[in-house]
Amino acid sequence: MHRMKRVEDSQTENTFLVMNKHINCYGRLFGGVLMQWIDEMAGIVARRHAGTIVTTACVDNLNFKAGAYLGDIVVLIGKLTYVGRTSMEVRIDTYVEELDGTRRMINRAYEVMVALDENDNKVEVPGLIVETASEKAEWEGGEKRYVLRKERRREGY
Ligand SMILES: CC(C)(COP(=O)(O)OP(=O)(O)OC[C@H]1O[C@@H](n2cnc3c(N)ncnc32)[C@H](O)[C@@H]1OP(=O)(O)O)[C@@H](O)C(=O)NCCC(=O)NCCS
Repeated sequence: MHRMKRVEDSQTENTFLVMNKHINCYGRLFGGVLMQWIDEMAGIVARRHAGTIVTTACVDNLNFKAGAYLGDIVVLIGKLTYVGRTSMEVRIDTYVEELDGTRRMINRAYEVMVALDENDNKVEVPGLIVETASEKAEWEGGEKRYVLRKERRREGY
């Protein structure tokens, strides 16, 4: 029987402190550093779902909405939105956490990860159980993006 897992089974949160080494020449968190944190998060979420090693197939939709600055606490939350046969789409939301604990979103990204075996062959991933209204809405969006990405690869635009 095809295995199934819940979104919460692989959901992951990670927190960082923005330090001097993360800052660009304009005094903001360097975008490339955040992209690394996002890619690592996508890999962890996908690996937890697949139970195999995974690789990044594409970064789809990475939107910087606001900056982060020295001393900020940055929180990344990653969760699965959609799975195909061997691929998984992960949404990673990044927030700056204020002193009172409220969180302000500064980035949203979607990455597609592919599950691999020890010989780098693609392997089937468990199905995704979507329960809440927002998980169902993400699944529908993920399905549309999956079809669109396939079409773009086929037509090469
Ligand atoms: C990602 C990779 C494994 C896909 O292999 P492939 O033989 O081209 O893939 P296929 O056409 O058989 O597709 C396999 C799955 O990946 C998905 N996929 C492949 N290329 C994709 C892309 N560019 N964007 C989104 N999804 C992609 C397919 O939709 C398919 O999903 P499904 O099984 O859920 O339907 C391969 O291209 C690869 O190894 N790329 C390098 C990855 C890497 O090194 N990443 C780190 C960068 S430093």
